[in-house]
Amino acid sequence: MRMTVIGTGYVGTVHAACMAGLGHEVLGVDIDPDRVAALSAGRAPLRETGLDALLARTVADGKLRFTTSLAEAAAFARLHFVCVGTPQLSGGQAADLRHVDAVFDGLARSLRPGSLVVGKSTVPVGTADRLARRLADAAPEAGCEVAWNPEFLREGSAVADTLHPERLVVGVRSRYADAVLREVYAPMLRDGVPFFSTDPATAELVKVASNAFLATKISFINAMAEVCDTAGADAATLARAVGADPRIGAAFLEPGLGFGGSCFPKDIRAFAARAEEIGAGAAVAFLHEVDRINTRQRQRTLELARELLGGSFAGRRIAVLGAAFKPGSDDVRDSPALAVADAAHRHGALVRVHDPEALDNARAVSPALGYAVDVTKACEGADLVLHLTPWPEYRTLDPAELADVVRVPLLLDARNSLDAPAWRRTGWTVRPLSGPRTTGGAAVDEPPAHRSPAAPALTAPSGRTS
Ligand code: UDX
Repeated sequence: MRMTVIGTGYVGTVHAACMAGLGHEVLGVDIDPDRVAALSAGRAPLRETGLDALLARTVADGKLRFTTSLAEAAAFARLHFVCVGTPQLSGGQAADLRHVDAVFDGLARSLRPGSLVVGKSTVPVGTADRLARRLADAAPEAGCEVAWNPEFLREGSAVADTLHPERLVVGVRSRYADAVLREVYAPMLRDGVPFFSTDPATAELVKVASNAFLATKISFINAMAEVCDTAGADAATLARAVGADPRIGAAFLEPGLGFGGSCFPKDIRAFAARAEEIGAGAAVAFLHEVDRINTRQRQRTLELARELLGGSFAGRRIAVLGAAFKPGSDDVRDSPALAVADAAHRHGALVRVHDPEALDNARAVSPALGYAVDVTKACEGADLVLHLTPWPEYRTLDPAELADVVRVPLLLDARNSLDAPAWRRTGWTVRPLSGPRTTGGAAVDEPPAHRSPAAPALTAPSGRTS
């Protein structure tokens, strides 16, 4: 089938390459000429397992090409996927729909009669119907239709998630649109992937409800971890025992520094803002608490770090392990790790960050921090090591080797995923953010008794030191 994919960010690039990989004839569209030039040469603008190879193959065999022209796109096909970003409005909680609106306005002028425009961007409920009215007003004779088909891909496994989804959801207003989308995804349907065909509002809501549930699960276990800490209980064991109930499940139930990234934080805020707009705010008011609990984990980590340093960050050296918002990604958008590193720096610490993939992106958004390409360099002379993104390679570090290079062998494991007993055996004092304070009969690693009354703020700058 012929189709266009408009917007070649994360979702669009992966969708375009995967659709071409399935054998469709795809034209990718982006307003950024540099990006279009790179993609046309088969170079992906992001790191994603399998994407480079898929892009190179589909561009080489002519199944996939790119343009900056919306008019060319409108003429190329009668099926268009819209994958542009819907960031958080600056100064607000709602989604900023200006890119989506601009694409629809741009297309409206030149769409072929009977075209189907399918949104994949995450949008507030009601957006598809609003855009359908806008298209109809702009081109009443064209008889074009708007459908919504949310994506559920995760960074790091985006190609696999697209080619082998757990479910497909389409929100349509006609049998025609339903049939077109079944044809697009025919190989997945043959594989038995569940296909939910519904109205656009439900499809839009499936996406935000899914992300809201996952974010709630993470904040729920982090709230339990806070109670555990106060009660002297073991949050890590509690999480495993609670997750052993199959009705609850162990996934997304790991206590720690909490969620970040380009989706969860902005999606739950936009969901709550939209619910308020339509008069359903009370139903999802809990999402504000989910957000607050999540932010509090960054604050707790920062407070604990300061406590471990004896009450002040000023002039202390901190090695930070991890900058990406999650392992397996080089993305630092709303990264909890970078937020904590930045805050420690603002409070006067000398911070040196290591990350296996995200150093370039981290340096671009937080240029004042120090960076190191290997863990040993990051740890040299450190008074405290902060483990903030749970990359698998950090679990195989040699704590004895690192103990030789730090000034003080003191580790705060904000992801509760390092082997604390192994680190302790080589002389480290280990403090998990949540989890057992004692392991294998070892004594509790108590932080220095010094506790300063005012908590360090995550946001209030207190004089940059470098
Ligand atoms: C998410 C959704 O999973 C995906 O379906 C949607 O399309 C986009 O948003 P992604 O942003 O790639 O995908 O990240 P995900 O793997 O879901 O992790 C989100 C955040 O939650 C990360 O910061 C991760 O570290 C954190 N997390 C995850 C926890 O803090 N605890 C957990 O137990 C699990």
